[in-house]
Amino acid sequence: MEPRDIDGDLTEILIDQEQIRARLAEMCRSIEIDYADKDVLLVGVLKGAVMVMADLARELTLPITMDWMAVSSYGSGTSSSGVVRILKDLDTDLTGRHVLIVEDIIDSGLTLSWLLANLKSRGPASVEVCALLRKPEAATVDIDVKYVGFDIPNKFVVGYGLDYAEKYRNLRSVGILAPHVYS
Ligand code: XMP
Ligand code: MG
Repeated sequence: MEPRDIDGDLTEILIDQEQIRARLAEMCRSIEIDYADKDVLLVGVLKGAVMVMADLARELTLPITMDWMAVSSYGSGTSSSGVVRILKDLDTDLTGRHVLIVEDIIDSGLTLSWLLANLKSRGPASVEVCALLRKPEAATVDIDVKYVGFDIPNKFVVGYGLDYAEKYRNLRSVGILAPHVYS
C-alpha cells in the first residue's frame, strides 16, 4: 500500500519546522525577561494551541504552570461569529495570577477578544497573549498581543496544531491547503 503522505495535500509551506523553533526560542527569551520575577500560568486554547504550548513550555527556562480551555468560536460557517461558548473551562483560580494565553492563530480576533474579557473578569494580576500566527488583514477587532510569532497572509492554513476538519494538526510545518483537498 502507498504511504498516505499528508505533506502532499499542501500547495505551499509558509513556515517550516526550523523557522517555528527559532522564532519560539526568541519569543521565550522575551517572556523570560518579562516574567523573571513572576509565576506565569500558561493558558492553552484547545485544540490548536497544543503544539505551540508543548514547544513553548519546554523552551522556557522559567517555572511555569499550565492549564487549558476549550472554546467554540465558529457557528456553522468557517468565519468567526464572535459568539463564543466555553466547552472546557480552566481548573485554576485566576485570582492574583499572571496569565499568558497561548494561541495558535489570531484571525478576526473575535475569539481572543472574548477570551481576554472573560479571563480579565476573574481577578488575575495580569493577562497577556502569545500567539504563533496572526493574520493582520483579517483583524476585525484591535487586540494588543504582546508576543506574536509570524504575521501571515489572509489564507486558510493548517499544520502545527491547526486543522482542516480535524486533520493536519500533526504536520510539523504551517502551510496552505491544496484546493483539491476541499473541492
Ligand atoms: P478568530 O477569527 O476568532 O478565530 O480570531 C480564531 C480561531 O479560528 C481558528 N482559525 C483557523 N484554523 N486555519 C485553521 O486551521 C486557519 O487559517 C484559521 N484561522 C482561524 C483557530 O482555531 C483560531 O483559534
Ligand atoms: Mg480549528
